[in-house]
Amino acid sequence: VAENPEDIGLFEAVHTQRSIRRFTDRPVPEEAVARVLEAATRAPSPTNAQPWKFVVVREAERRRAVADVYRRAWEMAKQFYGDPENAAEETERRMLVATDRLAEKLDEAPVFIFCCLDRSRLGPMVTPDLAQLLDPSSAYGAVWAAIQNLALAARALGLAATPTTVHRLFEPEIRDLLALPPYVETVALVVMGYPRGEFGPTQRLPLAEIAFAERWDEPLLTE
Ligand SMILES: Cc1cc2nc3c(=O)[nH]c(=O)nc-3n(C[C@H](O)[C@H](O)[C@H](O)COP(=O)(O)O)c2cc1C
Repeated sequence: VAENPEDIGLFEAVHTQRSIRRFTDRPVPEEAVARVLEAATRAPSPTNAQPWKFVVVREAERRRAVADVYRRAWEMAKQFYGDPENAAEETERRMLVATDRLAEKLDEAPVFIFCCLDRSRLGPMVTPDLAQLLDPSSAYGAVWAAIQNLALAARALGLAATPTTVHRLFEPEIRDLLALPPYVETVALVVMGYPRGEFGPTQRLPLAEIAFAERWDEPLLTE
């Protein structure tokens, strides 16, 4: 691992950025927050609409209020995502245990970044009253491209940045806490801070299983 976090190469960042869900109480400098957001805004978007907005929450009381919503949302979502006790394999079990623990202690993360979709920037991708997305894949996709840029920039600065979504089960409560206008919705909550735990290789399916040559029935790679 590079001495100065920023010295890591792009591929090292891509391969070691993972969803770390434990944080130290080391404060995150304002400058680091600005830098990861700046990186987020370098993402592509349809017609360069840049339909993202970010609400950074640092105040302990507001983080606690968000954590309370998140905990209740996870209690509901958990029934569908599964109990760690019943996980089929060890990696799934570990992910569920970590997710469960995060829901208990979400506000251990010193910085919450709500990554939002601003429908007023979507032009032809939304109805004129902004009520209905006409191209949801592009709209949400743009925000997710920004989120991934943010996560990689955080990795380069030695920060863990984990995207979460279950709070959306209680979106109206979150909207109130953040005073969001009606045409803005949250897409993800990225919890960020200095990690307790190592960056490290991620577990992913091999290319041979997920990439095809020309047609679905021809693997791109032969073993
Ligand atoms: C769209 C999306 C939604 C996610 N929602 C949650 C979430 O609500 N809670 C959580 O703890 N992790 C969430 N994650 C993180 C994933 O669980 C994690 O990326 C996945 O298990 C792979 O683990 P890794 O990033 O450590 O390799 C989400 C990730 C994505 C991309």
